[in-house]
Amino acid sequence: MNMVDPQLAPLSNDIKNDVKIDIKDNQFLKDVLQGLSQTNKTLPCKYFYDEKGSQLFEQICELDEYYVTDTEIKLLQNNMSDIAKFIQPNCNIIEPGSGAGIKIQLLLSALDQPKSFTALEISPSALKYSVATIKKKYPALEVNGLLGDFTDQENINKIKGSQGNNNLVFFPGSTIGNFEVDQAITVLKNLSSLAGDGQILIGVDLIKPLNTMLEAYNDKKGITAAFNKNLLHRINSELNGQIEVEQNFKHQSIFNAEKSRIEMHLISKQDHSIKVNGVDFHFKEGESVHTENSHKYSTTSFERLANLAGLKIKQSWYAPNKAFVLFLLEK
Ligand code: TRP
Repeated sequence: MNMVDPQLAPLSNDIKNDVKIDIKDNQFLKDVLQGLSQTNKTLPCKYFYDEKGSQLFEQICELDEYYVTDTEIKLLQNNMSDIAKFIQPNCNIIEPGSGAGIKIQLLLSALDQPKSFTALEISPSALKYSVATIKKKYPALEVNGLLGDFTDQENINKIKGSQGNNNLVFFPGSTIGNFEVDQAITVLKNLSSLAGDGQILIGVDLIKPLNTMLEAYNDKKGITAAFNKNLLHRINSELNGQIEVEQNFKHQSIFNAEKSRIEMHLISKQDHSIKVNGVDFHFKEGESVHTENSHKYSTTSFERLANLAGLKIKQSWYAPNKAFVLFLLEK
């Protein structure tokens, strides 16, 4: 007989109407209800990264259209010996949002006896994998993993308390582009406080022809669409959501020229309502939920941002055609 463990079986919609999660203890639920209650609906992008979302993200990084990862890895490889000259021996390295920990290994292999590596990552599966892999590959290195959100001040303070005052903070992937200006300044200030008197090595995607940018966030295989929609599937499975994801939503990426950013949206295909933990939300046909931004900078616009966070550009390494840049920042 085929027995289904009741704890593992997905809840039917009838049951979802009766079971309620306590909002007090659940930040994900609070953020989702708040985001969907706004006139222009939004969902915070940090919730993309459950196990499935992290896997989809790694697949995005391997897509032909998604130039960001490849360009940055080549840029790191081609300039690594020069980059290493700027970094003192025995340094402590911290990487907020370390993901699967692929890029950091290029750095670890090139540096002169790095002392420690601290990964701060929101996805438990990605953190486990990266810490285990890096420990195995670099037995002399002290490896620490902290599970959490790098925009949470508490996590920044925890790491600060455990590290010295002269660290290298690694922040690749143009992750800084995923924040609006005010937030980006706060993130840079936090990176700066993690670095202490040390430095930040940050990867920034630069503005380029429109089609190249649009295709990178709307690939032919539909992986980016699946990544975007996974957020709704996650609401269904974790927050008693009743959303007909495939039937009612489609993925859309646009370039907002005024704000120099790619925006990802989930567009409602028709007038319909959803429920999240018993709360109703109505969608009109064509209405959007804004899920992600990816700001594209010029050297000048990024320098302005860095200066607002009290940071200076010490050194820059550009990819061919100025497609991407690595900046070394210091106070
Ligand atoms: N920070 C990268 C970028 O903006 C990676 C990224 C974050 C991303 N969210 C994404 C890529 C969503 C594709 C889709 O490009």
